[in-house]
Amino acid sequence: MYNGGIFVIIFITCQMLGSQSQECVSRQEVQSTLRHVHKLLSAHETSFLQSVRSLRKKLNLLHNNTIKHSGNTGKHSTPICLAPNPPANGRMLGQVFRVGHEVHFLCNPGFQLSGPETRECLDSLSWSGEEPTCKMVDAGTDNNPTSSMPTSTSSPSPPSVSAYVRPARCIELQGAVHCTCEQGYSISSQDRSLCTDIDECEFFRMTQPGRLCLHACVNTAGSYYCQCPTGYSVSKDNRSCQDIDECERGAHNCTKEQVCVNTFGGHRCMVVECPRFRNASYIKTSPLQCERNPCVQGNKACLQAPVSINFHFMSLVSNMSTPRVLFRVSAARILGDALRFGLLGNRGAGHFTLQRSSRQSGELLLVEPVQGPATLEAEVEMSELERRTLLGRYVTKVTLFVSPYSF
Ligand SMILES: *[C@@H]1O[C@H](CO)[C@@H](O)[C@H](O)[C@H]1NC(C)=O
Ligand SMILES: *[C@@H]1O[C@H](CO)[C@@H](O)[C@H](O)[C@H]1NC(C)=O
Ligand SMILES: *[C@@H]1O[C@H](CO)[C@@H](O)[C@H](O)[C@H]1NC(C)=O
Ligand SMILES: *[C@@H]1O[C@H](CO)[C@@H](O)[C@H](O)[C@H]1NC(C)=O
Ligand SMILES: *[C@@H]1O[C@H](CO)[C@@H](O)[C@H](O)[C@H]1NC(C)=O
Repeated sequence: MYNGGIFVIIFITCQMLGSQSQECVSRQEVQSTLRHVHKLLSAHETSFLQSVRSLRKKLNLLHNNTIKHSGNTGKHSTPICLAPNPPANGRMLGQVFRVGHEVHFLCNPGFQLSGPETRECLDSLSWSGEEPTCKMVDAGTDNNPTSSMPTSTSSPSPPSVSAYVRPARCIELQGAVHCTCEQGYSISSQDRSLCTDIDECEFFRMTQPGRLCLHACVNTAGSYYCQCPTGYSVSKDNRSCQDIDECERGAHNCTKEQVCVNTFGGHRCMVVECPRFRNASYIKTSPLQCERNPCVQGNKACLQAPVSINFHFMSLVSNMSTPRVLFRVSAARILGDALRFGLLGNRGAGHFTLQRSSRQSGELLLVEPVQGPATLEAEVEMSELERRTLLGRYVTKVTLFVSPYSF
């Protein structure tokens, strides 16, 4: 067609030239030019067709590739199970039926699942377990009229497997499917139409210990909560543990004669008994104090015995940093000219030391961290002297209860 067009144009040109001038190009020249143009066009046509073919090839390849990707390669390579039937009055979650993948079943409200909640596509290309059914929850079978009433004693049933697997919310946007999950769930790595529960406890265990919960973490479907050991309650921040003061709450069985001592995570019922010294007798002047009865004139052994014995109970958490002042003893009034402080006995040795903190007071120091649970005792003695003669000894018995936890 092109050739014809060009031919015509040239022909007319020649006709015009021929009619007006002798210098019209010869017929031979025209034919030569035409051959040349023809050749040129053929070359163009070939090149054009080649381009089209190449383009078509590329398109095909692209098309094949997109089909492969959207169709999940495996459709041809890995074997798949036949799509299972969703139960009547229920539904099935999961769209990938390849070997090793799972589908989950849910029943509509008012129906209860009978059979497995999850089935897996086995190597044998059959689904594990039986085909589940949804059975109507029949309130009529139980003739007890109170059964349909909500009872205060009924505890929430343990979360079922299906609570940890939820359908994803998917939307199609420009041919691509985008799925999202509720809070606490993430898209299943196995099947993008499913959401699986995020185990927050496990997740945070790998990052920073104690960040999520001070003590124990319990994963639930879509969430988690923190737990504390007995004797503690979960704090308002929902992650820390707070000691319950059993003594203050009256949540103890200590007798009137006993002293209730609150500890971190518990309490103790302590019996305070005045000691027996030879030639000296004591009387309890307060729940935590014993005082020596007046000595018989000239009874030196009695005068050597402590004037008073005080009892002191303390509670500490485990592994407390040291050094730490636990306790201070001071003389209310000084009769003699000197005061001496000392640590009696060997108990608690290594953990405690005593230091003078002022002219009339001394401090009991914890110098080594204590790993609980532990109970340590120390006896602090303060002596009053007048010209190096003992005027009186005052003893404080300190008992330290260290909790098993660092809180
Ligand atoms: C694309 O796939 C079809 C059949 O699936 C095949 O015939 C064709 O050769 C493929 N094309 C390319 C470029 O791979
Ligand atoms: C603690 O948990 C309760 C109930 O689960 C919630 O209402 C409250 O907001 C939580 N408090 C904090 C500080 O997270
Ligand atoms: C107190 O005693 C009662 C009865 O023996 C017992 O049930 C309860 O657990 C005890 N309470 C404490 C705090 O030990
Ligand atoms: C203890 O008291 C008895 C009599 O009450 C007396 O005979 C004895 O000497 C005293 N012992 C000392 C060490 O003072
Ligand atoms: C005790 O505390 C120190 C530092 O505060 C810490 O490095 C150590 O791990 C703790 N030990 C235990 C058993 O908790």
